[in-house]
Amino acid sequence: MEIQTFEHDVLVIGAGGAGMRAAIEAADAGCSVGLVCKSLLGKAHTVMAEGGIAASLGNVDDRDGWKVHFADTMRGGQYVNNWRMAELHAKEAPTRVRELEQWGAVFDRTKDGKILQRNFGGHRYPRLAHVGDRTGLEIIRTLQDHSVHKSQIAVYMECCITKLIKDGERVVGAFGYYREKGRFVLFKAKSVIIATGGLGRAFEVTSNSWEYTGDGYSLAYNAGAELLDMEFIQFHPTGMVWPPSVRGILVTEGVRGEGGVLRNKDGKRFMFDDIPENYRNQTAKDPEEGWRYTQGDKTAMRPPELLTRDHVARCINREVKAGRGSPHGGVFLDIAWIKERVPNAREHIKKKLPSMYHQFMELGGLDITTTAMEVGPTTHYTMGGVRVDGDTQMSCVPGLFAAGEAGAGLHGANRLGGNSLSDLLVFGKRAGEHAAKYAKEQKHGWIDEAEVKASMEWALHFMDAPKGDENPYKVQQDLQKMMQAQVGIVRKEDEMRTALEEITKLKARAVAVQAPANREYNPGWHTCMDLSNLLIVSEALTKCAIERKESRGAQFREDYQEKSKEFGNCNMIIKKGIDGQMQLRREPVTPLTDELKAIIDEQAK
Ligand code: FUM
Repeated sequence: MEIQTFEHDVLVIGAGGAGMRAAIEAADAGCSVGLVCKSLLGKAHTVMAEGGIAASLGNVDDRDGWKVHFADTMRGGQYVNNWRMAELHAKEAPTRVRELEQWGAVFDRTKDGKILQRNFGGHRYPRLAHVGDRTGLEIIRTLQDHSVHKSQIAVYMECCITKLIKDGERVVGAFGYYREKGRFVLFKAKSVIIATGGLGRAFEVTSNSWEYTGDGYSLAYNAGAELLDMEFIQFHPTGMVWPPSVRGILVTEGVRGEGGVLRNKDGKRFMFDDIPENYRNQTAKDPEEGWRYTQGDKTAMRPPELLTRDHVARCINREVKAGRGSPHGGVFLDIAWIKERVPNAREHIKKKLPSMYHQFMELGGLDITTTAMEVGPTTHYTMGGVRVDGDTQMSCVPGLFAAGEAGAGLHGANRLGGNSLSDLLVFGKRAGEHAAKYAKEQKHGWIDEAEVKASMEWALHFMDAPKGDENPYKVQQDLQKMMQAQVGIVRKEDEMRTALEEITKLKARAVAVQAPANREYNPGWHTCMDLSNLLIVSEALTKCAIERKESRGAQFREDYQEKSKEFGNCNMIIKKGIDGQMQLRREPVTPLTDELKAIIDEQAK
């Protein structure tokens, strides 16, 4: 059977913000780059980071700077972060944003023409550079404009990678198929960057679209890379809950940054009821103070709606469980109330939050300038992922790099909103730079034809197998429901043990899935293949979540509700054993340098 073969110095798998930024850097370093997208170029979860990109430009509040951003990121991540990544991220984000501006990105502006910055959860000062509520889209557009004219970058769209190919220890290529025609493709490369985003599609309610089936984590794991802290899955507090067809679609945190408040069915601002100890000195005492903060009063503290996402999501969950939720199982997010304070509030809201206005009007028939939205938590982001070196983004597998949501370490136990966009620029650039450097030191490796043939046979066997009675969509749906129920926002040991048993059963069912025997336009066949990724990542995250017997950041354990000193010093590492089984070990968090520790202590005052 014919396999199309391409050769590049650097292969980038995934073409969201991190992948495109990596490709640009590698191309500028003189490498030939293959850029592989599972769907169309520009269609990426990056656009779901709507409210802004975090960078301490200090345009709105000059008290901001890299040290405050670093300390906020570490505190948000509850100190299990890779501190080196947090340091590099905080230091380099402003340069990456200015660079993007030079490349043509449009931002909202302050009165004196600087990039405007807004408030977001967990960020001490207004830090999110933005354009309305379409910031991720603007970043993708800019990167796309900047990269498509580079002759060194070849883009492969609708192309899905199923296996990384190694020569000895080193990664030397990747095998996959084109989704449209079902033709197979082999890429030879001197280095490979994984930038495939997250795994939201392992859950029932998610802001992620169909592509996000954990492919990059699973490719890297199967190639021998380590996965870090997979238990930390971010449930963004505000996704749409109604109508059912749009459940999970993101409602940007920018709504709260602009003064939106959360209320339960009794009209109560329940977020004032539960303010974590370590944020007490930075949280408003009453609604009036919170409002003043959102309007730029530097003497005021942030409203509790702008506490970190993990906490806000849990408070919403609590209200719903206690029967104080909205009619469709969420709570109310109200921005319309600002008409009491802002002249021309309707126009103001439409200007600041154009996508939200449009989204609710078109999808829910609701006018957010007059009516409160119904919102609830949605699976949004994977803090865990491929374990990489902070400076170079290389994994423990030579030649294999990871960046953006696929890489791990920066965010620790919980990511602050807007840090994903700066993450993908800072570490996309670094991954591109170091993958190029590595590629220049290598020759193309040897590709084992038998391995390629086996990959092809594996793909085809879903069509060749005798008819099983398993439908791949049904298996995926059952997995999603089970993960949502047993390994969701609130976790318990017995439920997660049941989840592991269920995953074993689902693996057996996934062996028997069958697709119609036609390689063209066959999404059922693609789902058969995606299932193996979904099951690997679900097992990894469940195992890590069981092992971490504490509540920290995005992981809340009903049976271990407090943070523990022991686990506060631990990262969870997943690796494929030589027997092919998934192995989990704990590793101590690398101690902070004295200089960085002093910064954190200083900022906590
Ligand atoms: O709420 C948002 O706009 C999402 C931002 C992010 O995930 O960084």
